[in-house]
Amino acid sequence: MAPWIYIEDLKKHIGEEVTLKGWLYNMRSSKKIRFLEVRDGTGIVQCVMGAGDVPAGVFESTGGISRESSIIVTGIVKEDARSKIGVEIGLTGLELVAKAQPYPIAKKSHGPAFLLDHRHLWIRSRKQVALLRIRHEVIRTLRGYFDKRGYVCFDPPIFTANACEGTSTLFQTDYFGKTAYLSQSGQLYGEAGALALGRIYTFGPTFRAEKSKTRRHLTEFWMMEPEIAYLDIEGVMELVEDMLVELVAVILDKRAEELKVLERDTSLLEKVRKPFPRVHYKDAAAKLTKMNDRFKVPFEDGDDFGAEHETELTKSYEKPIFVHRFPAEIKAFYMKRDKDDPQASLSVDCLAPEGYGEIVGGGEREDDLDALLKRLGEHSLPKEAFDWYIDLRKYGSVPHSGFGLGLERTISWIAGIHHLREAIPFPRTIERLTP
Ligand code: 4AD
Ligand code: MG
Repeated sequence: MAPWIYIEDLKKHIGEEVTLKGWLYNMRSSKKIRFLEVRDGTGIVQCVMGAGDVPAGVFESTGGISRESSIIVTGIVKEDARSKIGVEIGLTGLELVAKAQPYPIAKKSHGPAFLLDHRHLWIRSRKQVALLRIRHEVIRTLRGYFDKRGYVCFDPPIFTANACEGTSTLFQTDYFGKTAYLSQSGQLYGEAGALALGRIYTFGPTFRAEKSKTRRHLTEFWMMEPEIAYLDIEGVMELVEDMLVELVAVILDKRAEELKVLERDTSLLEKVRKPFPRVHYKDAAAKLTKMNDRFKVPFEDGDDFGAEHETELTKSYEKPIFVHRFPAEIKAFYMKRDKDDPQASLSVDCLAPEGYGEIVGGGEREDDLDALLKRLGEHSLPKEAFDWYIDLRKYGSVPHSGFGLGLERTISWIAGIHHLREAIPFPRTIERLTP
């Protein structure tokens, strides 16, 4: 049999006979000729079957093959200028592996609920494959970015006894004989890692019992969280900026085909260059309070931003922006205060353009033992659960900083999709546990 290759490698085999193993994506037929679109996970290629090109009986039996049946085809790779991938296959043989029952996802458009119920099949379609490949490239690039620079990958636990991001979005279990939570963020453990290893990143799933149903919220999402000893808030902004510029450049280069499939306007991504504007919270708040006629929920100085506020704020910029020094009162217990303005925290969010909003949150951590104990009290957090974390301030405390990048939010922005749920293979939201 001719050598088995993947569709993404077809261009290296022009003029050769090859074997493809995959599935029937679509078929058009006339009396003497059939056009089969075959997919194998790496691409879709048009295969042309003339009645006389294949062994006796194959042309006739192919007519009964349903969409998504698994098939193995052999044929000659031909250059073709009209093809999206530059080649097509002249078939010489076809073997049916398993005939599919009538496929539930039709060519016509379905509503989002139907597609989400069939997510295990929907991920086979062209756009979903493109998105999942972009997701993989984003993960590889982010890991690579930190690996190249000497960061150590440091895996935090998922079950924790302490909350990280406030107590209102915790998932809990009683399995351990006392209350345990699913991790909202690997950060606190990442801090222990940074004091042991200098600079680390955690990367894994995190959980929030979000009560809101928005296109920006998942209950299970992935976060990349670097943590660096001796880094300050300025350093965080430089790092986030450098990382995002590299990430966008790599995706534009390596996933150009997938961005095309998704009809992403890449001219907007080309503008993601240094420097990103840095906006003080107070300036952002002043701008927002003047726009109150545009908002469903009016904005008041001191408030956290809602989605509509972020969207308006970022409208006047073509690239991501930083908003820094949010009021300490609306931020987590671990945020360090600004010594020049004790009401402000040394926090920073990175907001993506085009209405995508916050993709990164981070800042400097409170490194003073007494100040940290006071904050735990103010936030009504049980000191016992944080004993190990408090130790980090007793033994070799240093200024340190880090951030968390929301993977699905970042993918949604780069890929230009409306809803976060398509940026993860099997989304979990307040309304969805299956498939
Ligand atoms: O801003 P957050 O809550 O920050 C933290 O968890 C810090 N401990 C991170 C750190 O400093 N190491 O979350 C960080 C990012 C957000 O900017 C957002 O991109 C994403 O995580 N995120 C969510 N993504 C999807 N669904 C949700 N429910 C999300 N909540 C946060
Ligand atoms: Mg945040």
